[in-house]
Amino acid sequence: MRNAGCYSPTVWHRTLAGYSDSPVGSSEPIAPDPGRLIVALRQIGYSLEQALSDLIDNALSAGATNVLIRFLWTGERIVGVAVVDDGAGMDAAQLRNAMRFGSAARVDHTSLGKFGLGLKLSSFSHARTLVVISRREGLTVGRRWTLAGIRRHWDCDIVKESQAAALIDAPWSPIDLRVSGTVVLWNDIDKLPVSGRGLRYTLNALHRRLELHLGLHFHRFIQRGVLSIHIDQQEQGEPEHQIRATVPALDPFGYGVAPLEGYPRTFVMHLAGVGEIPLDCHLWPPNSDRPEYRLGNRAAARQGFYFYRNRRLIQAGGWNGLLQNDAEPHASLARVRIDLPPSFDDRFSLNVQTGKPSERRRRELARINRILLAAAALEQG
Ligand SMILES: Nc1ncnc2c1ncn2[C@@H]1O[C@H](COP(=O)(O)OP(=O)(O)OP(=O)(O)O)[C@@H](O)[C@H]1O
Ligand SMILES: [Mg+2]
Repeated sequence: MRNAGCYSPTVWHRTLAGYSDSPVGSSEPIAPDPGRLIVALRQIGYSLEQALSDLIDNALSAGATNVLIRFLWTGERIVGVAVVDDGAGMDAAQLRNAMRFGSAARVDHTSLGKFGLGLKLSSFSHARTLVVISRREGLTVGRRWTLAGIRRHWDCDIVKESQAAALIDAPWSPIDLRVSGTVVLWNDIDKLPVSGRGLRYTLNALHRRLELHLGLHFHRFIQRGVLSIHIDQQEQGEPEHQIRATVPALDPFGYGVAPLEGYPRTFVMHLAGVGEIPLDCHLWPPNSDRPEYRLGNRAAARQGFYFYRNRRLIQAGGWNGLLQNDAEPHASLARVRIDLPPSFDDRFSLNVQTGKPSERRRRELARINRILLAAAALEQG
């Protein structure tokens, strides 16, 4: 190993760097092992709320105005979840593309999908089988992914037309699927356990969680009357229930009258080479008991930034590393609304997932944050 010392670190680094783009000899494809890959992909940690939000994104992009989420159960187990929408649906080629892990990029930049993976990853995070039946302009097609099919080198089943039609023509009230729409069905659920308190308790708890998350993240669509999300449940093999709930909008800025003169205030953040983003800084009136403020009794943790992309909320609070504590008691009334234009997708370096803003961005946000903190402290006396 002594010889390694004959390379200075710089030379060594330069040599390695050359390997990234220059030919080094022959090459051969090394395809991933589908069985191993899917096991890993199933672990990426999609919550039920995030998974269903992904399916609602898809439905919205397809022009749906109604989405039904239906839990299917038997005995004391949840065995399936169906997400049904009245959007434009897909034809055979579109459905084939939809089932691909890494579907073709969407042409519409204002759509909510970006990676071509949401449908598959959200489904396999909870279920072992994914069935998609779709109707477009009256024609019905169906596909199915099973874990066994994936292990057989991405072998995707084609559902017979008669079976597909029977499934989509089953009652899915209040969704009208006569002309177009899509049923996404998760079967063989293995990652939605029933709590020790029983099925009924679990279904109620899931319902409450979903109402909060979906009502908040899709509030702008619900408020504008362009989307209704319905939730119900059905015992497998039994007629559908007549009772279902429609998710109410939860507008995190729906406080009515601002408590302090001069608020809401808008600051403009300048991003070199990109443009300007307005930051709308809001203060809630103190001691509010509105559900839009409490947001599941976690108001203190809900202070901070609310990022929207194409009207869809993608981050509900948190200071992205600007404050030590995301539940800073003096700032619990402060919420900042930021609309990220789709054209900023690739260039906006604030990573809302990992919460690591760049240093420059951190300084700009910190300035706004200080102003907000001061205003909130003033308001709270
Ligand atoms: N409910 C639906 N109605 C119509 N088309 C759909 C529906 N769901 C999915 N699709 C089609 O399937 C494709 C793949 O969906 P998928 O969610 O996997 O990826 P995406 O939405 O393009 O990107 P992302 O990974 O960000 O969600 C979409 O581009 C769309 O063409
Ligand atoms: Mg999607």
